[in-house]
Amino acid sequence: MPSPRAPWALSLPRPSLKAPRRASALSEWALLPLRLFLGVTFLYAGLQKLANPNFFNKQAGISIYMQLSGAARFSPIHTLLHGMLPYAGAIGLITAYAELAIGLGTLLGFMSRIAAAGGAVLSFFLFLAISFHTSPYFTGADIVFFFAWLPLVVAGSGSQLSLDGYLRRVVRQRAHVPPSDLVALPFAQVQRLCGNYQKGSCSALAGAVCDAGRCPVLLGRQAPIATPVAMAGIQRRQVVVGGATAAAVGVGAIILGSTTAALGKLIGNAPSPSAGPSMGGGTTTTTTASTAGSLGLASQVPLGSAATFTIPTTGDPGIIFHTDKGWFGYDTVCPHAGCTVNWNQGSTMMICPCHGSSFQVANGDVINGPASHGLTALTIVERDGHLFLG
Ligand code: FES
Repeated sequence: MPSPRAPWALSLPRPSLKAPRRASALSEWALLPLRLFLGVTFLYAGLQKLANPNFFNKQAGISIYMQLSGAARFSPIHTLLHGMLPYAGAIGLITAYAELAIGLGTLLGFMSRIAAAGGAVLSFFLFLAISFHTSPYFTGADIVFFFAWLPLVVAGSGSQLSLDGYLRRVVRQRAHVPPSDLVALPFAQVQRLCGNYQKGSCSALAGAVCDAGRCPVLLGRQAPIATPVAMAGIQRRQVVVGGATAAAVGVGAIILGSTTAALGKLIGNAPSPSAGPSMGGGTTTTTTASTAGSLGLASQVPLGSAATFTIPTTGDPGIIFHTDKGWFGYDTVCPHAGCTVNWNQGSTMMICPCHGSSFQVANGDVINGPASHGLTALTIVERDGHLFLG
């Protein structure tokens, strides 16, 4: 005769997309370093963009426009990026404020899951737009950022050092409902209190060995801690208090962003990571065309110097070198994210001011990434005193 089955003995929890209870426990302290790092990084990234007027200046090598148009040449979502170009300024502004909001939300532990989801979406977009071709793939930062956000999407920011947790406690206190925070208890204590524990076996598991990993009590059979009516009241209050706090944090973010942008304008085009093209010794030249197809006069680029110009077919910035071996040049759009790379007189490498990729002057190859490949070489020919693309 089959033995009677305990009421919940074999009822395994159904798969669910809800974050498991233990994920919240993990987020209390274990995820704090990750939360701090991501929060500070995104806050910094947003402020850095807002503080740099060149980011919004279409002509500047590090502008959002240049980065989008450069990325559109290699990205798998190039059609989308091309479509975004006319709105580059607005997109730059939205991105900067989104980073600011994500950073603040993550640092404060406010609307943490929404902030983390925003961070994950933004990182994934940057991965597709900019670092998709990075090789090996794990050297690209965006894919790492994307996965770094996921634990915070699952677990949130917990109840410690978190505005979400604080607001939850305040609302429950006002509703005279005990806090729902997790409390760590030794399992031995749970066994002592549990009515199903019998000298090592569990009557709720049909006499199987007592096991914290599949304990039916710990896995969700707790008594409700508040009535449904009280819970509905708590949820309403949480929406009201959360909305008011969101408005306050939003106003704070706008003030912080606007102040940073105003200071950036006041100080000038300061935080550019590097000076613009400078050939030292006053030999920087921008060629001027006077014959059809001419890039400019060869005499404008003395031996040992270089000159910048605009590539007529693409509109990209280019550079021409004049050496004792002849003329050569490159499209100076950085293959990483589209900034314009610079060269300093006498240097054997060209440097990207945005993320520091460096390229050989001799052949355009990458010396250091994050750019995954070298600059596009241009053939330059001299004819009748003029320079032309070959
Ligand atoms: Fe990132 Fe050049 S744009 S290194």
